[in-house]
Amino acid sequence: MERLIIRGGRRLEGTVQICGAKNAALPQIAAALLSAEPLTLTNLPDVVDVRTMLTLMAHHGVVAETRGATVTLDASKATNAEAPYDIVRRMRATLLVLGPLVARFGRARVSLPGGCAIGARPVDFHLKALTALGAAIEIEGGYINAQAPDGLTGARIVLPSPSVGATETALMTATLARGESEIVNAALDPEVADLAACLAAMGAQIEGAGTHRILIQGGKSLGAARHDILPDRVEAGTYAVAAAITGGRLELTGARLEHLSAVGEALEAAGVQLWPTDRGLMVARDGALKGIDIVTEPYPGFPTDLQAQFMALMTIASGAAMIRETVFESRFMHVPELKRLGANISLQGTSALVRGVAKLRGAQVMATDLRASVSLVLAALAAEGETVVNRVYHLDRGYEALDRKLVRCGADISRVAD
Ligand code: UD1
Repeated sequence: MERLIIRGGRRLEGTVQICGAKNAALPQIAAALLSAEPLTLTNLPDVVDVRTMLTLMAHHGVVAETRGATVTLDASKATNAEAPYDIVRRMRATLLVLGPLVARFGRARVSLPGGCAIGARPVDFHLKALTALGAAIEIEGGYINAQAPDGLTGARIVLPSPSVGATETALMTATLARGESEIVNAALDPEVADLAACLAAMGAQIEGAGTHRILIQGGKSLGAARHDILPDRVEAGTYAVAAAITGGRLELTGARLEHLSAVGEALEAAGVQLWPTDRGLMVARDGALKGIDIVTEPYPGFPTDLQAQFMALMTIASGAAMIRETVFESRFMHVPELKRLGANISLQGTSALVRGVAKLRGAQVMATDLRASVSLVLAALAAEGETVVNRVYHLDRGYEALDRKLVRCGADISRVAD
C-alpha cells in the first residue's frame, strides 16, 4: 500500500491538463458490448476504475487494445454474460454492463454491487428500467439474473429520481429494444449526453439527451464508431479548489466552465476568480476566502462529487459555511479526517457546519473513498507542516497522476510504499 507525504503551505502555479471523464468512460466502455463491431474511445483516463472496467470486459470476451489514451474494444466474440462478484465488488459502476448484456445476448447474470462507503446505493431504478423494456429479473444468491430470450421491446421508463447510472442503463439498453422508448425524469449530466453522443456515433437514434426526456428509436444493430470522451469536470473542479486553497493560479487545459456552473458560482462567492481561456479555464485567488453555504443536488446543481473538496476549502475560509448533502445519505467520511488537520466542523444529520480556522496543521490521515481522499490532499496542501495520507489507492481509482500534476505546479508531495 502506498501513502502520500505532503508538506503544505506552497502556492500552486502552472498548468494542469484535464483528462477525459472517468464517469463518461465507464458507461462508454460498457456500451461496446452492444455492438459486434469495434468501438474506439479516445481521451481515456488512465485510472484504476477504468482498468477495472476493462478487466470486466476481458472477462466477457471483449478484446481491448489500448494505445496511450485510446482504446479499441471489439465485442464481436463476446459470449460470457456473467459479471462475477470478484470484479463487481471493486466498483459499483460495473453494474453498467447489465443492460448492454441483456440487450445484446438476451441474458445476463451480474453480481449485486452491494453497499459502499458513501451509502446504501440501491439498484432498483436500473432493474425497473430493464423490467419496463421486457426483461424478466430475479435476484438469487447475490446475483441479478436478467432474461429476455425473445429480445426487448421499447417502453416508457419513468425514473423515480434522475439517477445518472439508471439513465445510462435505460439509454444503452433501449438502443437495441424494438421500437420507441422514452426515458422520463432522466439525469441531465454531461456524461449522459456524452454517452448518447457515443451511441449515436454507433448508429443509435436518440433525441433529448441532456434533458429530462430522452427518446430512443431502437432495434437496429449498432456499428463501429470512434468517440472522444469529454473532459472530467470533477477533476477540473478538484484542481480549481487546489488553486483556491493555496492562493495560487492554475490554468486547467481542456476544462469546460459550462459544465461547472454551480461550482464556479460557489467558488466566486467564496472569493475565487475563474475565467475561460483559449485552452480551458483559469482559476486564481489573491484575496481572502469567505465561508459560503452549498447544497449538493443532481446536475446542474452543485455536484456531490465535489462536496468533500469544497468542504476542505471552507475549513480555512473566514466565517462559517453550511454544507448540505442531499444525493447520498452518508457522504461525510472526510469530516473526522479533516478535523485531524485542525478543521472545525460539526455534523448535524445531512449537514456539516464548517467554521473557518486560521490554519490547518499536518497530521496522519486515512483515505476512505475517492473524493474524501482528495479532499485530504487539498487540505494538506494548505496545512502547515507535514501530512501523511494513507491508503492512496482510493485516489488512484479516479485521478490520473494526481501527485505528479500537483508537483509540477509547485506542490511538495512524495509517494512512498509502506
Ligand atoms: C454516479 C457517479 C458518481 C456520482 C453520482 C451522483 C458514475 C460512474 N458515478 O453514480 O460519481 O456521485 O452519479 O452524481 O457515473 N439510487 C437509487 N436506486 C437506484 C439508483 C440510484 O435509489 O437504482 C439513488 C442513489 O442511492 C443516490 C441517488 O439515487 O441516492 C443518485 O445516485 P445515481 O445518480 O444513480 O449515482 P450513480 O450513477 O451510482
